[in-house]
Amino acid sequence: MAEKGHEFLARIGKTRLRPGGIEATNWLLEKADIKEDSKVLEVACNMGTTLVHIAKKYGCDIVGVDLDEKAIEKADKKIKDNGLENKVKAIYGNAFDLPFEDESFDVVINEAMLTMLLGDQKEKALREYYRVLKPGGMVVTQDVVLITDNNNERAKELRIGLSRAINVNVEPLLSDGWESCFERVGFKVESKTGPMTLMSIPGMMKDEGIFEALSIIKTGLQEFNKEYFQRMRSFMMDNKRELGYICFAGRKE
Ligand SMILES: C[S@@+](CC[C@H](N)C(=O)[O-])C[C@H]1O[C@@H](n2cnc3c(N)ncnc32)[C@H](O)[C@@H]1O
Repeated sequence: MAEKGHEFLARIGKTRLRPGGIEATNWLLEKADIKEDSKVLEVACNMGTTLVHIAKKYGCDIVGVDLDEKAIEKADKKIKDNGLENKVKAIYGNAFDLPFEDESFDVVINEAMLTMLLGDQKEKALREYYRVLKPGGMVVTQDVVLITDNNNERAKELRIGLSRAINVNVEPLLSDGWESCFERVGFKVESKTGPMTLMSIPGMMKDEGIFEALSIIKTGLQEFNKEYFQRMRSFMMDNKRELGYICFAGRKE
């Protein structure tokens, strides 16, 4: 099976696999208002970068779920390397059927996953987050937003182009479409948008550090990786005016 874009980026050394990078994550974390005694769930934790970041920053307990067993192994290693086994866990789990009781969490964080869900699957996942959140709890997300003046044909072209560029069938929405999904589920939302920085050079430097970003670019341009790296990056750069990130902070009232 063809390597997915986020698997490829992880293989060449990228640790943050999300459209708005650390800038968007910082906004989400500010809105989530995590305390030391908060119970936090990260859906789509991948290699555990955010799990470890949150546990260190806030001292809270956090559990991550993901469908990718190899990424969970990496997350486990990162948790152990940071001596956080008592606070942080990464387990196999599906956003559609979370292995947790109703009203178990104060915060659910979910970055760069809803874009990968098609049709009504986005709402299905959001309903599951609503179920596991305590009343007053917050869901915080970041995803890809299309900026196309509501032109359906162009939106369709961008979805097809992005899906081809990253080898994953994705369905990013316009900002109104995203907002309606959250509201239909019952979340009261605030949002923020900005440029997609996943593969821009300044974005990579901010997310990973200067030397790490240079190493990622160098690895990406090696013979074996070059075609894929350039295909992904060119699509994102060529369409940068019409592709952005959108973050939501939604409260369960
Ligand atoms: C683009 S990566 C983002 C990873 C990480 N959240 C980040 O921002 O760096 C998408 C992740 O979503 C996970 N994923 C996709 N569908 C999922 C589902 N239904 N339940 C849980 N995880 C899922 C994938 O395995 C992958 O790790």
